[in-house]
Amino acid sequence: MKCTVKTLLQRKEDHGKVSMLTAYDYTTARLVDSTGVDMILVGDSLGMTMQGYENTIPVSLDEMIVYGRSVARACRDTFVVMDMPFMSYQVSPEQALRSAGRLMKETMADAVKLEGGRNVSPQIRAITQAGIPVCAHIGMTPQSVHAMGGFKVQGKGEDNARRVLRDALAVQEAGAFAVVLECVPPKLAALITKELDIVTIGIGAGPDCDGQVLVYQDMLGMTDGHTPKFVRQFADVGEQMKRAFSEYDEAVKGGIFPTEEHAFVKSDCSPEFYEKLERETGEGRQ
Ligand code: KIV
Repeated sequence: MKCTVKTLLQRKEDHGKVSMLTAYDYTTARLVDSTGVDMILVGDSLGMTMQGYENTIPVSLDEMIVYGRSVARACRDTFVVMDMPFMSYQVSPEQALRSAGRLMKETMADAVKLEGGRNVSPQIRAITQAGIPVCAHIGMTPQSVHAMGGFKVQGKGEDNARRVLRDALAVQEAGAFAVVLECVPPKLAALITKELDIVTIGIGAGPDCDGQVLVYQDMLGMTDGHTPKFVRQFADVGEQMKRAFSEYDEAVKGGIFPTEEHAFVKSDCSPEFYEKLERETGEGRQ
């Protein structure tokens, strides 16, 4: 059954947990959609995982739309959230609404996500008032990597903890239906989860959020050893892929693959015919 904002808020009321994974392409999204995972995030983390950048800053709105469209086309039941990339909403509520509108119309996703707390409340208000569900994202916000001086844990110390809590309350007040809490101390994440009526989705924020999100390449072991501390690796797909690629390489170079069996059509003419054809070709060249 299709997961909706209503399903997610009801889950919180029932004290159930919400699962979310990133996906950036049709094939992966189809696999996720065939499981019980509630939400897919087309995260701007694709700047790193799919495009090989060091951070999310270079990702454009047009690029997000290309990836998001393929994901949304694959999903029947899973709720799809589109990340709003850097500088597609920070300028003004009007810019945010235009960008969110494009993401929804051109991908057919279910919601958008943007980073920030009180500073983006007017943007969240403008988008939700237009009928577009918003997931907020506070704590460690990767688009502020330069302002933070790197990817750093947020909410440490009393002042910072108060600041993160105020941000959480502000995004709820502005109309968000969910909020990602990234790399905030577990006790603070638990307190925010208790205080809010909207769904909290943790990443590196301990066990007490309403839900959890992971980048799928991290949890599948596809990142060549650069796995963040908060990730649990559920499979070693990277190793399996590498083994298959090198077995393929050896089979092709060793003449073991392909065989006649792997031909798309069988050779249906007689051996005599092919000999004749070869002779005729030779004569034609003389
Ligand atoms: O872009 C992303 O994948 C994210 C998650 C890590 C929360 O924002």
